[in-house]
Amino acid sequence: MASGVTYLDYQSTTPCDPAVVEAMAPWWSDAFANPASRLHRPGLTAAAVVQQSRTAIAGALGLTAEELIFCSGASEANNLAIKGVAEAELRRGGTRRRLICLATEHRAVLDPMRYLAGHGFELVCLAPQANGLIDLQQLEAALSPETLLVSVMAANNEIGVLQPLEAIGQLCRQQQVLFHCDGAQAVGHLPLQPLTLGIDLLSFSGHKLYGPKGIGALAIAPGVDLAPQQHGGSQERGLRAGTLPVPLIVGLAKAVQLAEADRQARGLRLAGLRDALWQRCQALGGIQRNGAEAPCLPHNLNISIEGVEGTALHQALRRSLAVSSGSACAAGEPSHVLQALGRSRLEAAASVRFSLGRSSSGADVERAGDVLEQTLKTLRRA
Ligand SMILES: Cc1ncc(COP(=O)(O)O)c(C=O)c1O
Repeated sequence: MASGVTYLDYQSTTPCDPAVVEAMAPWWSDAFANPASRLHRPGLTAAAVVQQSRTAIAGALGLTAEELIFCSGASEANNLAIKGVAEAELRRGGTRRRLICLATEHRAVLDPMRYLAGHGFELVCLAPQANGLIDLQQLEAALSPETLLVSVMAANNEIGVLQPLEAIGQLCRQQQVLFHCDGAQAVGHLPLQPLTLGIDLLSFSGHKLYGPKGIGALAIAPGVDLAPQQHGGSQERGLRAGTLPVPLIVGLAKAVQLAEADRQARGLRLAGLRDALWQRCQALGGIQRNGAEAPCLPHNLNISIEGVEGTALHQALRRSLAVSSGSACAAGEPSHVLQALGRSRLEAAASVRFSLGRSSSGADVERAGDVLEQTLKTLRRA
C-alpha cells in the first residue's frame, strides 16, 4: 500500500490473494485457448478448467454448475438479473409490473430499477428502519399480484447490516414473486446458500473476496426466465455473450475456495478488531454508529462524527488512512444510505466507513484510532 497509508477500505475492493494470482498464471499465455473452440485440444482444455471452476464456485453456494452465469462483476450481474427478469416478463406477455427494492441498495441495483421505472414498470423503494434493516411488514404490504421482483441485498456495502434473507424469501414465495439478492458484500464473507434462503437470483463479484477484478457471477435458480442483456454469442446459455475470461474464472474459483477456508476464523478475528476500533471511537465522544450493530458484517464499522465538516475530515484522514465516506461507486455525493437512515446531508458527509480485511492487524486499528483522535482534536479546535 502507498507509503504510510493504512488501508481500511476492503469493502471497496480487496487485494487479489497471491495464491489466486498464482492459480491464474498459466491461463494467460501458456494455456490461452478460447473455451468456445471445441474443435481442438487447447480449446477443450480451457473449457474443462472453466467447467471445473464453475462447479467449484457453484458448489460453495449449494448450487450446480448449470445455475451459474459468469459476467464482469456484480454491477453487470445485477443488471442482467433485474432487466433480464423484466424483459422476460414482457416477452412472455406477463402483466406483473411492480418492482420492489430497499432505498439502501447499491446503485448497481437502484439504477437498473430506475431505468425500468422509466420504461413502464412501477418501482416501490422501501425506506429501511433507522438501523438499516428492512421492515418486513412494509415489504409484505407492498407485495401484490402485480409484483414481479423484489431485490434486497445480503449485506450493505456502507453500513454492513445483514438483511433477513430467509424471511424475505418466504414472503416472496407466498406471492410467487422472484427474489434477487445482491450478494457482492456477502459471498466469501458469510455462509450463503441461495436456494435454501428462497433466493432466485444472486449476484456477486470476485474483487470483493480477494479475487480478480473484472469477474463475477449471477446464480440463477432453476426455472427462472431471463432475457439476455448482452447479445452476440451463445456463451453462458445465450444469456451473456462474450469470450469467457479463463484466467479470471480460475482466479474466482480459487478465491471462493480460499474464502470458504478462512471465512469463519477471519470473521471472528476481524469482528474483534472492529469492536476494538468502535470502543476507541466511543471514547472520543460525539460519534454515533450507523446501522445495526448486529446482524452486521464482522469487518464493517460506519460512524458519523459530530462537530466536524465532512470534506475537512476526509482531507485530513486521507493523509494516513484509506477509508471511505460511502460507496466507491457514488463518489462525491453524501451517502444515500446514511440519508435513508435519517442522517442529514451534513451528518452523512461527516461519516467514515472503516472496512477491515484479511491483512488488517491490531496495529492498523490502533493507528486508525490514533489518526482519528488527532484529527478530531485539530478539527474540533479549529
Ligand atoms: C453491494 C454492491 N453491489 C454491487 C457492487 C458493484 O460490484 P462490481 O464492482 O463487481 O461491479 C458493489 C461494489 O462496490 C457493491 O458493494
